[in-house]
Amino acid sequence: MRIDIITVLPELLRSPFEASILKRAIEKGLVEVHVHNLRDYSTNKHKNVDDYQFGGGAGMVMMIEPIDACISKLKSERDYDEVIYMTPDGETLTQGMANRMSLLKNIIILCGHYKGVDQRVRDHFITKEISIGDYVLSGGELAAAVLSDSIIRLIPGVLSNETSALTDSFQDNLLSPPIYTRPAEYKGWKVPDVLLSGHNANIEKWREEKAYEHTRNRRPDLLE
Ligand code: ADE
Repeated sequence: MRIDIITVLPELLRSPFEASILKRAIEKGLVEVHVHNLRDYSTNKHKNVDDYQFGGGAGMVMMIEPIDACISKLKSERDYDEVIYMTPDGETLTQGMANRMSLLKNIIILCGHYKGVDQRVRDHFITKEISIGDYVLSGGELAAAVLSDSIIRLIPGVLSNETSALTDSFQDNLLSPPIYTRPAEYKGWKVPDVLLSGHNANIEKWREEKAYEHTRNRRPDLLE
């Protein structure tokens, strides 16, 4: 898979891909992440990528020309399955969406900044608009990193033990059950006996019950 991220703040998109699982996925050649500085595609001498709103109003708007130049260059080099715009008024990201996108070959992610992009970008270039939750970030970069992480860890071969993604919260509409490690007792706080029993069927049954209980308490909407 190849992910091209278009941003005015490329420095915000370096460290997420330089550690742990995402770094390893890139090193293994399972994903390529390319970050493009939108300023490199500016058409004026001041390298501006934003301008005042028509009709007045506070806040700058990202201009269409540099975005068109960057997206068109990428599209001339390969086909893309989706051109995604990160925005708080997009469709809220779910595990199901991440699962589906992990099967795609090439995607572009455009990070919004300032007040957002000229509406014509959304009308003519964007195929999918995604929000990572009902709150407003300073820009789409951290949201793009969240989206990329949620997708990349699901690409086959990225997680060393593939079942560990299958047992994640949300993967089957249930939250994960509690987990424990050594010591078996700490300050008198004990790990549930069943987990130390070595009886796999009982352990599975306990985990399933706990997952349901936890989901009922925290997120009953997931069981509807
Ligand atoms: N840009 C700003 N806030 C955002 C959000 N919640 N999701 C996606 N992109 C954003």
